[in-house]
Amino acid sequence: MKTVIYYFTGTGNSLAAARRIAGALGETELIPIASLANTPGPVTPDADRVGIVCPVYDCGVPVMVAEFARRLDLSGVGYTFAVVTMAGMGVSALHQLNGIVRERRAGGLDAAFAVGMPGNFPPLARPPEGERCDKILSKADKRLGEIAEAIGSGRPVSPGFAPLSGLVKALTYGPFVKGAHDAADVFSVSDACTGCGTCARVCPAGNIDMVDGRPVWGRRCELCCACLHFCPTEAIQLHVMRGTEGRGRYRHPDLAVADMEAQRGE
Ligand SMILES: Cc1cc2nc3c(=O)[nH]c(=O)nc-3n(C[C@H](O)[C@H](O)[C@H](O)COP(=O)(O)O)c2cc1C
Repeated sequence: MKTVIYYFTGTGNSLAAARRIAGALGETELIPIASLANTPGPVTPDADRVGIVCPVYDCGVPVMVAEFARRLDLSGVGYTFAVVTMAGMGVSALHQLNGIVRERRAGGLDAAFAVGMPGNFPPLARPPEGERCDKILSKADKRLGEIAEAIGSGRPVSPGFAPLSGLVKALTYGPFVKGAHDAADVFSVSDACTGCGTCARVCPAGNIDMVDGRPVWGRRCELCCACLHFCPTEAIQLHVMRGTEGRGRYRHPDLAVADMEAQRGE
């Protein structure tokens, strides 16, 4: 049975989740959503099972994922699923995806899952480190095994009732969507920048140009924070809420710069 998983990741949690599920299912193709972002028209996968794996942003899904899901025609697919990775709260993101899928496929998603993984938004909470991070990852691995088992057996799984997540989404997701692409205004780069260009290479939206050896952000930001977390000298800061100065950085231990570059499929 062939499975296709479309994924989006900023710091590797969702790619690790997609790989874990693919490994358990076998015969699974992983396709980066970022590689299809600039292609026109509907996307009609040729597979028996199709899933979306992505992070939660402001209790919803990244803008690029929502836009992609609207183009995805799952009407002819036997079994559909979504998995969101999140730091603490975001089941409403599954309801959002379910609503989008339902526009083309009666009944929407067959199964929807959320999995807790290390947080990657330092302005709100410092990313976990050391043993604490290992514990979260090992719990996630167990949960992903259960998720893969449910998908493998074609089980229907509802996202579940999520009133608090729904409320937070109602309050924050609209402003997030409105401002995300313009996040260029809230990033800065310090003199610690060596001009290595890693930030531009890892950006899934291709939103960073190197100008005179310094990153310049455009108007397609997804706020995934890959640039922030991958910068080898921590020269990049994000100026929202408590900011990011001295507040730690995170990326999934299995994620390489090449994985991020591959997302754009260039
Ligand atoms: C802009 C932004 C908003 C986020 N919002 C939420 C949220 O509402 N709820 C949550 O639990 N985690 C939130 N997170 C944390 C991520 O969802 C979580 O760390 C995720 O696993 C990151 O996946 P990735 O490594 O694939 O990018 C947010 C992260 C970012 C960058």
